[in-house]
Amino acid sequence: MNNFTFNIPTDIRFGKDQIQCLPDELAKYGKRVLLVYGGGSIKRSGLYHKIMELLKDFEVFELSGIEPNPKLSSVEKGTEICKKEDIQVILAVGGGSTIDASKHIAASACYDGKPWDLVMDRSLVKKALPITVVLTICATGSEMNSGAVISNEETHEKLEINTPHLYPKLSICDPTYLYTLPAKQTAAGSVDILSHVMEQYFQPNDEAYITDVLSEGVMKTVIKYARKAIDEPENYEARSNLMWASTVGLNHLLTVGKGGSWSVHPIEHVVSAYYDITHGVGLAILTPAWMEYVLSEDTAPRFARFAREVFGVNEADDMKAAKLGIDKVREFNKSLGMPASLSEAGVPDDKFDEMASEAVRTSGLGTRSYVKLKDEDVKKILIMCK
Ligand code: NZQ
Ligand code: ZN
Repeated sequence: MNNFTFNIPTDIRFGKDQIQCLPDELAKYGKRVLLVYGGGSIKRSGLYHKIMELLKDFEVFELSGIEPNPKLSSVEKGTEICKKEDIQVILAVGGGSTIDASKHIAASACYDGKPWDLVMDRSLVKKALPITVVLTICATGSEMNSGAVISNEETHEKLEINTPHLYPKLSICDPTYLYTLPAKQTAAGSVDILSHVMEQYFQPNDEAYITDVLSEGVMKTVIKYARKAIDEPENYEARSNLMWASTVGLNHLLTVGKGGSWSVHPIEHVVSAYYDITHGVGLAILTPAWMEYVLSEDTAPRFARFAREVFGVNEADDMKAAKLGIDKVREFNKSLGMPASLSEAGVPDDKFDEMASEAVRTSGLGTRSYVKLKDEDVKKILIMCK
């Protein structure tokens, strides 16, 4: 295993009605709150009303309309409110998009220059306002990690800031808030969780046995419950298992002892930066193609282990087992109703060259990923997904 540090300062309150702790917890940071949320699902579900009741003794300012694949312009708006109104704590109610925008706002509020500077150079983040979260979709793990992914509409860049200042102080994870999630979001979120674990599982160093075994358990959990949550939206067992899988899937636990760089996410981030598609949809299309592209005599044993441990493939030959594992990933995505090609998702093929070089330029694909990929390799993967 590689050396590692493990220090996650987020207080997780998991389960039904945990939201009752909100007033006491927020009061630790102050009374002037910026409530950040998306396009209105929290109003339709009644959660907005519940939160406003709980915060009746606070001064609540609002930033609504955070878009899926959150945009820099939203971050700029939120930063302005924080500075003008002297905000003391941010409350993000929603999913990865709302949380990520809130994290970026929290850092920008404590910085004198432009918010995008912090994406270009994370060492400029010296502090951030405290961030608190009420999670309403399980997917990204943003509720317990230090990353925030923001899209710059002007440059077509979708990039991450990642610094310890961005860990939420508190995340309330109540699985009943997932009951209103539409099937497409449940499916996309489940694919995202699976992808996060796969990204960490397929790394150059695979000697961290304990981390791999934990990862296999999380991946099996997603496969066991994703379809169930779509069929029975109010199934608490399915929702709660997926919710915790999302948090554990990307809170650093499943990367300890390993090391390297991710393979599919950098490609998907470019696709969603150019065409604004749902993150999990992009991952569902790209993942099996990436697996097929990097499968070789060298990688077959690892892919075979994945197929056997995660999908229960019963095949002694590594190469055959690996290929069956790829089929299983495709079947799983299809069973959730995910599209199988970029054209089905509305992505044309005319910008593959620039998208491929952008993916390699902005990530460790060419230097540190499981199988190193150059521009032309990424372009071939995109063509396989056409
Ligand atoms: O905007 P509202 O009206 O709230 O609707 C949202 C949105 O349309 C809806 N939704 C959320 N909770 C709901 C609900 N609808 C009904 N009932 C509920 N309980 O779901 C839609 C998607 O929400 P979003 O926040 O965009 O989803 P997700 O959590 O998948 O976040 C995706 C974003 O996170 C980034 C992605 O790239 C993308 O921009 N990621 C962030 C990561 C991180 N911070 O660590 C890592 C990931 O790999 C990912 O890149
Ligand atoms: Zn993701």
